[in-house]
Amino acid sequence: MSTGRTLRIEPLGRTVAVAEGQTLLEAAQAGGLRLRSSCRNGTCRECIARVASGSVRYRVEWPGLSLDEKLEGLTLPCVALAESDVVLVQPRLDVLG
Ligand code: FES
Repeated sequence: MSTGRTLRIEPLGRTVAVAEGQTLLEAAQAGGLRLRSSCRNGTCRECIARVASGSVRYRVEWPGLSLDEKLEGLTLPCVALAESDVVLVQPRLDVLG
């Protein structure tokens, strides 16, 4: 089910829908964009990206980010859930179609 929220990925400028319970990584993939990832559980930091606008919360209690990194707007899309429309800056991705 759609949350009505959207995820825009810059600098590509593509917008995808975010379904209920979907992480930003999963929402991007459902929309045909493969972001870099490895562990998918918030520890390896391969997926790290910046939130340009919007707010996120985390599926896990301790995502592998320092407080400073969180304050800088960095996020781990594999465990981040959109709490609003979100704009993510991640130049490292593959467009699947
Ligand atoms: S894929 Fe490992 S922290 Fe996101």
